[in-house]
Amino acid sequence: MKKILNIFTLLMLFPFSLTGAGDIAKGEKKFKKCKSCHMIVDDSGRIIVKGGRNGPNLYGILGRTAGSIDGFKYGKSLATLGKSGFVWSEYEFVAYLADPKKYLADKLDDKKARSKMSYKLKNEADALNIWAYLESVSK
Ligand code: HEC
Repeated sequence: MKKILNIFTLLMLFPFSLTGAGDIAKGEKKFKKCKSCHMIVDDSGRIIVKGGRNGPNLYGILGRTAGSIDGFKYGKSLATLGKSGFVWSEYEFVAYLADPKKYLADKLDDKKARSKMSYKLKNEADALNIWAYLESVSK
């Protein structure tokens, strides 16, 4: 109980510290790594970042169901994960980026899982910053 109370106290004192550790400006710079394959376009069609079409639009990734962009041809594994009701969070995003194929294999408990995203981002700080950036432009 004491522990729970402490967490609440911390949340009240530092409301932002637990909602995300990322740096938006740094994330914007690092998004260059993603841009060749991913655009950011809001629901009204406004282009936030002009990017490639190899990967799905990353607008509103926070709280979005995996594999859910209409018209994008996802790989089977990511589509299966999405159908299970899986929703992206900061934690899952960071883990996925570190090794998409391995991540899907672990999540689906399927050694044969495949990812259409060949790119890996091992640097956790970069991933957290990119998440913060994506969150900031998705409001
Ligand atoms: C070489 C192209 C490429 C690069 C570079 C790339 N991605 Fe991807 N990404 C993809 C593809 C293709 C998919 C779809 C994967 C699948 O269907 O298995 C994807 C899927 C994703 C998804 C899941 C989206 C959803 O709708 O469920 C996220 C999140 C993501 N990428 C984030 C990133 C971030 C952040 C970066 C930069 C650090 C990045 N990607 C770099 C090609 C890329």
